[in-house]
Amino acid sequence: MPTSYAYVCSRGEASKEYDRLRDEGLLKKDLKPMPYGELIAIPVTFGDLELDFQIVERFNPHDSLKTVLSDPPKKWEKLGDLVIFQQGTDTTDWPLDKVAEALNCNRLAIQNEIDPGIERKSQLDLIHGADGWVVHRENFIDYEFDATQVMFSSGNVTERRRMGDLRTDGETIVDAFCGIGYYTLQFLVRGKAEHVHACEINPESIVALKKGLERNSVSDRCTIYPGDNRQTLKQLRGIADRVVLGLIPSSMNVWGLAIRCLKDSGGILHIHMNVHENEIEEWANKTAEWFETASGKSTKIIHIETVKQYCPHIMHVVLDLEIN
Ligand SMILES: C[S@@+](CC[C@H](N)C(=O)[O-])C[C@H]1O[C@@H](n2cnc3c(N)ncnc32)[C@H](O)[C@@H]1O
Repeated sequence: MPTSYAYVCSRGEASKEYDRLRDEGLLKKDLKPMPYGELIAIPVTFGDLELDFQIVERFNPHDSLKTVLSDPPKKWEKLGDLVIFQQGTDTTDWPLDKVAEALNCNRLAIQNEIDPGIERKSQLDLIHGADGWVVHRENFIDYEFDATQVMFSSGNVTERRRMGDLRTDGETIVDAFCGIGYYTLQFLVRGKAEHVHACEINPESIVALKKGLERNSVSDRCTIYPGDNRQTLKQLRGIADRVVLGLIPSSMNVWGLAIRCLKDSGGILHIHMNVHENEIEEWANKTAEWFETASGKSTKIIHIETVKQYCPHIMHVVLDLEIN
C-alpha cells in the first residue's frame, strides 16, 4: 500500500476540506480519502501525518461494458451498488450477471416514469438482484433507501450539497417535504444543525429516513412527523430558524404554515418551484412580495438557485428568502 501525508478533519467538514485542498492544489488525486477513527484522512502532498492509503482504481465502465454487449447503452445512473438504465432500454438478450460484473455492481434496474403523484414514488423495474435497498454515498453522507419504492433525484446533487454547505450550526430547521432526508441529513451531518423537524407523508420514505439517520448517527437530533404536512406543520409554530419547502412543481399549499413555523424574530425559507426560464426573477420578486404581505414583516431575497431543467423551458429553482 502506498503511503501519503494526510490532512485529517471531521466527517462533517470532509467534503468542504476536500474541495479546498483540491482548489489549493494540495490534494493527492490518485489516492482515496479514508476513515481515520471517527475522522476522515484526506491524502495531500505534504503534512505531518503519514498514513497508508489505497490507490484509486482507474476503471472505465464504458470500455468494460463493451466487452459484454455489442451495442451498450451510453448512459446510466448508479445508486450504491445498483445501476439504473434509462426508460425503454432493451435488455432482452443481455447476459445480466456479466453486465453487472462489467459495471462493478450487484443489481440492475430500468427506470420508468417517476410517479407524478404527491409521494413521487419511484417506478424502477429491478431486472437483476434481490431487492432495491441501496446505500448511496454522496458528499460524505450515506443515504439508505429502496430505490424501487422512493425516488432519488441525482440531478439535485448540487442543491443537497448547497444545503449542507450552509452555516446551520445551532439552528432549528423544519424540513416540510423531507423525503428520505435529502436535505435533513445534510443539515444534521454537515451543517451541524441543532435539530431538524422532518415532515413526510410517504411511509416508505420515512422507513428510509430512519435508516439514514441511524446510519449517519444523527437520529437524536431529528423528529419525524408522519402524515400530511398541512396538519403536522401546525404543531411547529414559532420554533424554526429555517424552513425548507422542497416540493416541485410548487409548495404553495403550505406557504402560510411555513411562515408560522419561523421564530418571532424571523428566519430563512428555501422555496422550491418550477418556473419558466424567462420568468425566474419576476417570480422571485412576486413571491417575496407575497411573503411580505402574508407575514407582515420585511423580506429580502438572499439568493436564487437554479437546480436543474425540469422539462423544456421549465427550471427547478429555489428562492432563499429572509423574513424578519
Ligand atoms: C420531491 S420529494 C423531495 C425531494 C427533495 N426535496 C429533493 O429536492 O431532492 C417531496 C417529498 O414530499 C413528500 N410530500 C408531498 N406532499 C406532502 C405533504 N402534503 N405532506 C408531507 N410530505 C409530502 C413526498 O412524499 C416526497 O417524499
